[in-house]
Amino acid sequence: MSSQPLIPRLQPETPDLQRSKRLQLVSTILVALLLVGGTIFIGLVGEKVPTDPNELADYWLKTSPVIDGHVDLPILVREVYGNNVDKVDLNKNMPGHFDLPRARKGRMGGFFWSIFEDCREEAGPDFLNATNTVRDTLERIDVALNLIDKYPDFTLCRTAADVMWAIKEGKIASLLGMEGAHMLGNSLAALRMYHLLGVRYLTLTHGCNNAFADSGGVFAAVKPKWGGLSPLGKELVKEMNRLGVLVDLSHVSDDTALQALEITRAPVILSHSDSRHFNNLSRNVPDQILDKIGHGKGKTDGVVMVNFYPTFASPDKKANVSTIADQVEYIAQRVGRKYVGIGSDYDGIEKTPDGLEDVSKYPNLFAELIRRGWTHNDLSLLAGGNVLRVLNGAEAVAAKMASEGKKASMAIYSKRTDLDPRPFPPQ
Ligand SMILES: *[C@@H]1O[C@H](CO)[C@@H](O)[C@H](O)[C@H]1NC(C)=O
Ligand SMILES: *[C@@H]1O[C@H](CO)[C@@H](O)[C@H](O)[C@H]1NC(C)=O
Ligand SMILES: *[C@@H]1O[C@H](CO)[C@@H](O)[C@H](O)[C@H]1NC(C)=O
Repeated sequence: MSSQPLIPRLQPETPDLQRSKRLQLVSTILVALLLVGGTIFIGLVGEKVPTDPNELADYWLKTSPVIDGHVDLPILVREVYGNNVDKVDLNKNMPGHFDLPRARKGRMGGFFWSIFEDCREEAGPDFLNATNTVRDTLERIDVALNLIDKYPDFTLCRTAADVMWAIKEGKIASLLGMEGAHMLGNSLAALRMYHLLGVRYLTLTHGCNNAFADSGGVFAAVKPKWGGLSPLGKELVKEMNRLGVLVDLSHVSDDTALQALEITRAPVILSHSDSRHFNNLSRNVPDQILDKIGHGKGKTDGVVMVNFYPTFASPDKKANVSTIADQVEYIAQRVGRKYVGIGSDYDGIEKTPDGLEDVSKYPNLFAELIRRGWTHNDLSLLAGGNVLRVLNGAEAVAAKMASEGKKASMAIYSKRTDLDPRPFPPQ
């Protein structure tokens, strides 16, 4: 679109205040609908409803498109193009799993652009050694925002209402999700700044422990450092609730997840996780945690977004559409169809299931679920309704906490010494 450097607008978006007020109303009504059942984003008039499952999946997804919880396009742009967005042509066939023609074919209505930077060993056991992690994280956000700006197909979204509006306009709603609190450089201030830049979920860990929480590791558990959340991690969860940044429990240790579920006031997500029921990897979610998600006593609203990576989905590391449909159905049976979503991990995985090779293939999964008896309503919730309900729930908690007068947390990492008070004037 424009070649201007992208400066993200801060909330409230003054030029669009009227639109935003209108959207709030629309959102309140739509989210009320989402809570009782499914939603249809756009009405289709005068088209004949197909009966073939493949055609029906495509037909339904036109009105309730997929909102994917986790796509690693920014890291692909780092690795293949050295962060140079001028060299990226999303209208052509991209090397990974995402580009615009395939996203349109696959009825993609939105996704969380994953902001990811590897854990750094050199940070040391207390995560205090200087690293370039925060710089590299900002570069990842910059790549995402510049690509969103480059194509009129995308719109940066900060709220569930923004997403609804974007989809109605035929855009691909673009949200930012940050994959690991190690990217905060041990600082709640960094979280607040990332939130201003648009980050709307934060995975509490990646595959390593960090200053806030213990990780679940990937193929085997890692030795816990905190026994779940650190004291600062508990403060982080509250601060995320206050800001309206979703607490993402993919990747975390079971203790971290259980403690975060105890503390959070807002709904949670698992942005890209499979169930341990099929494949007993520490990276996958156990029944014990699934049982804490939902509505009712001792439960927290949330959405478990199913990962497509065959290595996670199945012990033999092979997967097809049925394998992923099994994952979706297991979570739906255990928790409910209102608590499951899609978090493919596209562009972040080197292998994909047969029949779900890239973003053009989502309709195959929906067709399979139609064959298994899933209704239009169920599928519109799976595609995007559930994650929007959860995002809206986090926004409502943030608004409530603001009305309670909650202020930014001044907590700092106890192992830091650089902020110790010093005499003034300097001696
Ligand atoms: C962290 O920094 C200290 C002091 O420079 C250094 O001795 C140590 O090796 C570093 N730790 C790691 C894991 O690189
Ligand atoms: C899953 O793996 C864990 C850790 O290796 C082990 O303790 C547990 O017994 C396994 N569960 C099942 C059902 O195999
Ligand atoms: C997936 O693979 C299984 C096992 O090989 C097979 O039985 C099933 O028919 C396949 N499903 C699809 C949709 O290809």
